[in-house]
Order: sequence, then C-alpha cells, then structure tokens
Amino acid sequence: MSGKLIDPFGREITYLRLSVTEHCNLNCFYCRPEPDSNVAEMSKELLTVDEFKTIAREAVALGMTRIRLTGGEPLLRPDILSIVSALSVIDGLKDLSLTTNGIFMERMAFQLAGAGLKRVNISLDSLDEATYRRITGGGKLQDTLKGIEKALQANLTPVKINVVLLKGINDGEIRNFLELTIERDIDVRFIEFMPSVGRREQWRRHFLSLDRVNEEAGRIAPLIPLENEHGGPARYFRLKGAAGKIGLISPLSRHFCHLCNRFRVTSAGGLKPCLFSPDEVDLKPFISDRKGLKEKFREALQLKPDPGKVACNPDQRAEQFQGIRSMTQIGG
Ligand code: 5AD
Repeated sequence: MSGKLIDPFGREITYLRLSVTEHCNLNCFYCRPEPDSNVAEMSKELLTVDEFKTIAREAVALGMTRIRLTGGEPLLRPDILSIVSALSVIDGLKDLSLTTNGIFMERMAFQLAGAGLKRVNISLDSLDEATYRRITGGGKLQDTLKGIEKALQANLTPVKINVVLLKGINDGEIRNFLELTIERDIDVRFIEFMPSVGRREQWRRHFLSLDRVNEEAGRIAPLIPLENEHGGPARYFRLKGAAGKIGLISPLSRHFCHLCNRFRVTSAGGLKPCLFSPDEVDLKPFISDRKGLKEKFREALQLKPDPGKVACNPDQRAEQFQGIRSMTQIGG
C-alpha cells in the first residue's frame, strides 16, 4: 500500500511532531502534570537517532512534508545535532523545525543551523524577569532573550515566539508582545492555555480567551488578516506596517479539529493520532520493518477521531482535553 495519508474524514496528514525527550530544564506549571496526577510514567527507552531517522523517512515516503522536533526540551538531548543532521537530508522533507525554551539557544543556534535545521519556535511567556521566573519555575529571562537574538543571527527564521496567555499572570503584557512584531521579523503567537493533566484548578483560574489579544491589537494599528501558509490552526494577522506577524491559536475558544494535519510521536516511539485521545500506536517493534511501519501509520490514521465529535461543545472542551500524558511528554 502506498499513497498519501488521508484520514477517514478527508484530512491529509502532512506534519509530524517528534518528541525527542520528556525532560525539561524549566518547570512551567501549565505544561507539567500535577505531582500526584495519574500521568503515564516517564519513558525509559528513548528512540535512537537511527530510529528517529527510520520513522521520519517512512513518514516522508507517505507524503508528510514537515517535521518538528519537540520535547520536553529537545536541546537537552546530547545527540540533538545528530538527530537534526540525520533528518535534514531526507529527500522530500520540506521543513525541519524545533520548539525550544531558548535557554540553550545562544550556545547552539549556529550548530543547529549548520546541521540543517531551518527554523525555531521559542517559548517565551513573559518579558518581565520576575514573571518569567515565576512561570518557568526559576528560568532566567535573559538567557532566552539572548537565545532569540542568536537564532535570528543564525537565520533560523522566521523565529516564532510562543506565548501561552495566562490570566492574572501575563495578560498585562499583551501589548508589549504585540509590539515585538513592529520593528523586527519576529512572529508572536499567542496560545490559549489548555488544561493538561491535573491542572484543572489552575486552568480555571488562569484561562483567558484570545479575544483579548484582538482587542489590544486593534488599539495599536489596523489588523490585516493573512493566509496561514501551512493550513494549521493558527490564524495570522499583521499590525499594519509591522515587520512580523501575529498568530492566534485558540484550541478552547475556537474549534479547529477539522484543520488537523498532524501526527505526534513520543520519545519512546508511540504514534499519537490525536492530542485529545489516549490512543497510541507503538512503532518501536516495527522499526526494522518498513512495511510494518507503513501499516502502523495507516492504523493510526484510522484512529483519528471524528472532528465533528471531538471537543465540539465549548462547555465540554476543557474536559475533553484530559489525556493521559502531560504536554512535557507529547511536546504540545
Ligand atoms: N497549554 C497551551 N500550550 C501549552 N504548551 C505546553 N503546555 C501547554 C498548555 N497547557 C505549549 C506552549 C509552549 C510549548 C512548548 O508547548 O506553546 O510554548
């Protein structure tokens, strides 16, 4: 069997997110599971460089064109440069990117670019040192800011900054983040806080819809809607005259499952068809069996839930976000 990966609801899967580790050097409360929640255990047997390469090659052979490395914090993998080098040479792969907290970026940006990485998304939830420290559980804002500069110098562009909007924590900084796009070619993407494992109480306290961002942006300059070149869930705008874009990712206030074009693979080789669903297809036993691996991709395709049934009711969306793995384990 060959051919593209089109699910039973007509969605073509073209985007693969590979988590390379569950570990992270930061401790952002919205991403970590609560200490006593019944989260799945940390994986012990991580995929090797060759295993990632095999999976990626098969995915590209099935028509996937974009791969993102995630974590945990992917730059904690001692062999991250080898992973990037191995994937970047795959014929047919159009885009190879990485999501990072940026702390090690100052040190690694040029090496990553040299290994063939195209671009990075950097998580940055506050421009204030104390707030950044509070959200990340001790992170140093300056490290990430230096990392962003280095990524720009290394041409890992467009550099996209991810901001999880948190009511009462960083919602006073929306304007500062929006203004980052004016002078420089930096995309700032606001993301709604999703209730991850065991974080219900904090979610209730700190969730804020991105409508607030629209309002604030409109006060700075007219907002020009842009195409989303990758067809993913982000809605893009530009402040009139600005260099960079503004992205809005609203998993809670707007339903976008019908646009889903992705698969995720955990660092232990579990293929996840949907962020909402506990389903996982174990790829590991099939690594040396190309045909078997292809069949597993097709099996996961059949497990993609009906977009008309997943999280459609705004009142239930938060409930339905409860998976068994935390974001640190599946990489957002
Ligand atoms: N809600 C929204 N986004 C999250 N991320 C992790 N946890 C959450 C959550 N609970 C995303 C953020 C961050 C990236 C690493 O993962 O975008 O920048």
